[in-house]
Amino acid sequence: MVIYGVKDYQEMSRKAAGIISAQVILKPNSVLGLATGSTPVGAYQLLVDAYKKGDLDFSKVTSVNLDEYKGLSGEHDQSYRYFMNANLFNHVNIRKECTFVPNGLEEDGAKECARYDQLIESLGGVDLQLLGIGGNGHIGFNEPAGIFTKGTHMVTLTQETREANARFFSSIDEVPTHAYTMGVGNIMSARKVLLLASGSNKAQAIYDTIFGPIDPKVPASILQLHGDVTIIADKAAMALVQDKL
Ligand code: GLP
Repeated sequence: MVIYGVKDYQEMSRKAAGIISAQVILKPNSVLGLATGSTPVGAYQLLVDAYKKGDLDFSKVTSVNLDEYKGLSGEHDQSYRYFMNANLFNHVNIRKECTFVPNGLEEDGAKECARYDQLIESLGGVDLQLLGIGGNGHIGFNEPAGIFTKGTHMVTLTQETREANARFFSSIDEVPTHAYTMGVGNIMSARKVLLLASGSNKAQAIYDTIFGPIDPKVPASILQLHGDVTIIADKAAMALVQDKL
């Protein structure tokens, strides 16, 4: 693991945008695995700025997102499809038909999960997978569990995750109870992984990810077995590991 401890959210975002930009410049037809949440928003903004300045070209890029709430359409303003359009896709020259997010409206979970796994395979896998992390160590929507789940699957969201994400909805009752997510196997198959963390509510998860046992109770801990992981975390998120590195 390469671990960068940086000053704050801005510096985390700058470093992350630099790594994603380098990926796209070195391999213009990259398959980017993308993430939602408040953590990557700053990096996406900087990628948009770079595109507007003429420094970045997304015309050959394909993207696959980690996850989507079950039951929300892409037009719902809290769906992850909507988030990606609003924060990145609508502002750069990526071809919309080359951007993929699980279909939250597909009722048949087995069908949607098999479709998404086949899609990732047909793209030749992910070159760079961007990740945020939940306060409980979840990645994508892989919640703490008894086993690591390999492929795309449907999850029941934990109360903790629904509460954490309730800030984006008008009430917790509106937060979906289920989601589709890539599995840890999909994430581990990416050629490179870039995990971002900001804020003191991520400090324990970052500690457990780096130093804890590899345990499905902290899904991100499996990244210790990946050969090319970069973690960029700000001071608050690094609080518990700073002295140990
Ligand atoms: C959600 C997403 C994750 C994300 C996490 C953290 O549950 N499914 O992909 O990493 O929240 O979100 P935030 O970046 O807002 O802290």
